[in-house]
Amino acid sequence: MKILVLHGPNLNMLGLREPEVYGSTTLAQINDRLAQDALELGAELSFLQSNHEGVLVDAIHAAFQVQQGILINPAAFTHTSVALRDAIASVNIPTVEVHLSNVYKREEFRHHSFIAPIAIGQISGFGAESYRLGLRALIAHLTASR
Ligand code: DQA
Repeated sequence: MKILVLHGPNLNMLGLREPEVYGSTTLAQINDRLAQDALELGAELSFLQSNHEGVLVDAIHAAFQVQQGILINPAAFTHTSVALRDAIASVNIPTVEVHLSNVYKREEFRHHSFIAPIAIGQISGFGAESYRLGLRALIAHLTASR
């Protein structure tokens, strides 16, 4: 089972960026932990972080008929990007949306997600654990729908 893990803008700064909101875990540590989990769960992960919307759109297109699932933290693009949403819809790959912070406890502009309506589901507020929970949820969904 192949899964694409996508990280949106500013997530390369995790560990340094607003640690009171996002914690002290770096993106490399998150990816390492996911890779360990994937070994146990029998999934093969590919990782990409980009600060550029078009790069993420291209990666989603390239996943068509290659990847079985997408785990994405769209970061700020969650709240702005029709392009990312349309890209995910166009490849029709089951997608789980994750956020480190609980976006619903934060500013109102973070309460709306363009991605959520076309995702299987969303996990928000568990810090780096959100990714691990999201990976398990995605794999469970893919396994059940085989
Ligand atoms: C985030 C929440 C977004 O609102 C924010 O723009 C981010 C990170 C999170 O993981 O909590 O960059 O997606």
